[in-house]
Amino acid sequence: MKWIEIPHDYLSQKSAIQLIELSGKSFCLLWKEDKWIAFSKKCPHAGANLAHGWCEGNEVVCPYHRHRFNLIDGRGAAGQGNYIQIYPLKEVDGVLYVGLKENMWSRVFG
Ligand code: FES
Repeated sequence: MKWIEIPHDYLSQKSAIQLIELSGKSFCLLWKEDKWIAFSKKCPHAGANLAHGWCEGNEVVCPYHRHRFNLIDGRGAAGQGNYIQIYPLKEVDGVLYVGLKENMWSRVFG
């Protein structure tokens, strides 16, 4: 797991799902009920960008075919049989970090 700092500029935008691109990785960031949630950019159904989706209750809704994913555990709604990644976040001294898995090549050469 690699912890990557999320630049403060992103944290002033709390009204929509943001697409964040850092260190060659991309993910969605959402402010909801006084906390940040980080999750997959790509819908597992057919690859839509979930940053173009929207939030309903505890779910993000994909803009293409309306698959829904729980924002706590990433599970798709009943019958979908899919899920998204929910990425861990931590705040240290007022700085927000996202935890992303390193791929094998970055572990070897990074
Ligand atoms: S691409 Fe997301 S529901 Fe089809």
